[in-house]
Amino acid sequence: MADEQGLTEAQIAVHWREEEYYHPPASFIGQANAADPRIHNQFREELFPECFKAYADLLDWDKYWHTTLDTSNAPFWKWFVGGRLNASYNCVDRHLEKNRNKAAFIWVPEPEDEETVTLTYQELYERVNEFAALLRDFCGVKTGDRITFHLPMTPELPVAMLACARLGVIHSEVFGGFSGNACGDRIVDSGSNILITMDSYYRNGDLLDHKVKADEAVAVAEAEGVNVDKVLVWRRYPGKYSSPTPMVEGRDYFVDEVLKDYRGAKVDPVSLPAEAPLFLMYTSGTTGRPKGCQHSTGGYLSYVTGTAKYYQDIQPEDTYWCLADIGWITGHSYIVYGPLSLGASSVLFEGVPTYPDPGRAWRIAERLGVNIFHTAPTTIRMLRKAGPDEPQKYNYHFKHMTTVGEPIEPEVWRWYHEVVGKGEAIIVDTWWQTETGGFLGSTLPALQPMKPGSCGPSVLGIYGAVYDENGDEVPAGSGKAGNIVIRNPWPGIFQTIWGQPERFVEVYYEKYCKDKNSTDWRDWPYFPGDGAMQAADGYFRILGRVDDVINVAGHRLGTKELESAALTVEDVAEAAAVPVMDEIRGRAVEIYASLKPGFEADDKAAGKVRQAIRTEIGPIATPKHVWLVPDMPKTRSGKIMRRVIASISNFTDVGDITTLANPEIVEEIQKHVQASKVAQGEAPQELSAVELAEIQRFGQEE
Ligand code: WTA
Repeated sequence: MADEQGLTEAQIAVHWREEEYYHPPASFIGQANAADPRIHNQFREELFPECFKAYADLLDWDKYWHTTLDTSNAPFWKWFVGGRLNASYNCVDRHLEKNRNKAAFIWVPEPEDEETVTLTYQELYERVNEFAALLRDFCGVKTGDRITFHLPMTPELPVAMLACARLGVIHSEVFGGFSGNACGDRIVDSGSNILITMDSYYRNGDLLDHKVKADEAVAVAEAEGVNVDKVLVWRRYPGKYSSPTPMVEGRDYFVDEVLKDYRGAKVDPVSLPAEAPLFLMYTSGTTGRPKGCQHSTGGYLSYVTGTAKYYQDIQPEDTYWCLADIGWITGHSYIVYGPLSLGASSVLFEGVPTYPDPGRAWRIAERLGVNIFHTAPTTIRMLRKAGPDEPQKYNYHFKHMTTVGEPIEPEVWRWYHEVVGKGEAIIVDTWWQTETGGFLGSTLPALQPMKPGSCGPSVLGIYGAVYDENGDEVPAGSGKAGNIVIRNPWPGIFQTIWGQPERFVEVYYEKYCKDKNSTDWRDWPYFPGDGAMQAADGYFRILGRVDDVINVAGHRLGTKELESAALTVEDVAEAAAVPVMDEIRGRAVEIYASLKPGFEADDKAAGKVRQAIRTEIGPIATPKHVWLVPDMPKTRSGKIMRRVIASISNFTDVGDITTLANPEIVEEIQKHVQASKVAQGEAPQELSAVELAEIQRFGQEE
């Protein structure tokens, strides 16, 4: 490994083998929504921003817009200015005339002996209206208010989202697997006075108590000065409360009971300006405070509708199944808003695709006739490990498959293609972010060949590039890596970070802004925070985050939030979070903590740290190891060297440590950590050049 010491991003190229193209089958091309290569012409740069009229025209507008893109307050872009519309109307009402009896959602409960539930567009319309009436009249919410949801994967979640959208109320769904504390922080940040939750849901065969998290969330919010007036509790089995946690008199209400007063109620969709916020979606960043990404109504809905049409290739007769949780942006854009706007039929699945056995996902696909399948590399790896030969036992046929959320290894890609897709399905590897609303990088499925491990070129209307640290373009095919940027705005881009407009400019635009006073979009390249390389064919290979974010199973966890969680334990003096390579999850978290004088570094203390992270953030953040160390490797100015710690955890070379204030500590920690790992059967694994570079630059931003 010594010869790989000091590997630069540029040298990665030398180690990166170009993969062969895979071409879409004629059967796919023949039916695709985008099969005419002239579409590229329609979205060429000279036609920007007017090219996006094509996406806006997929919607029904109450009032047509007059200005495609207003850049006068750059980089706070405004799309389709002057237009008015309602997202709930576009996702529900407009399909009634021709498709009222079509399935909008087919919900599959996790227990296999429970029947699936089909929600037609007509029934979705009824349920959205009734719930909107309840929100308006029982909760008294009005346009512009925020409501926090902490809902699992049941039809009540999209119903609640669309009910808010109908009223112009801004929803903020917190991923159901997140802790009550994380939910509480998001209630505070968004200033919500209503929390919508569910008593329980199934995961891995257990009916989990979910209501308990609502009580924690409300307590956290109250401690920080935000009062939650009402907690609306849906019941997993209406009429039967399935949580041991008591209801709080005067605050908590069973939705199924209150709804009885609103049976058959209708609420006119509120006609909203295109730039009215539709929802907030929180994500992690470099500092501890989560970022509430604010998405617009007109721009966002246009963008997800257009990309769902051309990149997901959803057509009226298809059965589409995206396994993402609606609590993440993928679910908002490509389970709820995009597919519903197109009038699609989608499968909604409550549980874990390998429960009760590794054939579950394929049984669902077979039984429901799924032909478009959408998931993340971590799930693909899990399905492959649990049952590499399972797919061939089931008679389903996919025309189209998606991978999203993390880089996919070419071997895993090939298993997805050959075994899951039976060699018949095209794959799109879609690169994008919570902030971006919809896809940024992907092949256009019928028109551009696939290349395992590369997401493909920028999508229609997106002009991506790779820049070096000085903002000079790293040419495609140069074999050098850098920071991927998007040179232009697009309708799906988030509007701001809720309550933190300066941070919005600083994090995403400051790095490459050419002139802060400019109102020309060309001066404001968008910086997503990912490293990438662009091959000669224009395809990007995403190398991962360049900031202090750890991507665990496709979920972004900020080192600062992990460390703050560890520091809630009284014993802990200092904590550092680093990524470690993980076969299934891509990356896992390891925590290093040093204790205050007088506290015992034993298993109990480590257990407290682990528990604190689960309580503060949620089980997805559970560290693989908590290492209690006498001290952290630090620079002379006292900064923790996460790069050095990450190298220890990954058995890679720690690099130059001569400038540290306490170099002797490195060897001590290394011996202890690596010996324990080996004793637990975690042998050092060979890292790829890309992985090595990630470890070596980790925490360098500090
Ligand atoms: C990473 C998920 C490689 C990337 C939609 C990005 C990917 C972060 C891909 C956003 C992909 C997402 N290939 N890396 N196809 N898709 N990423 O906000 O680092 O949860 O910045 O949005 O995931 O994660 P987020």
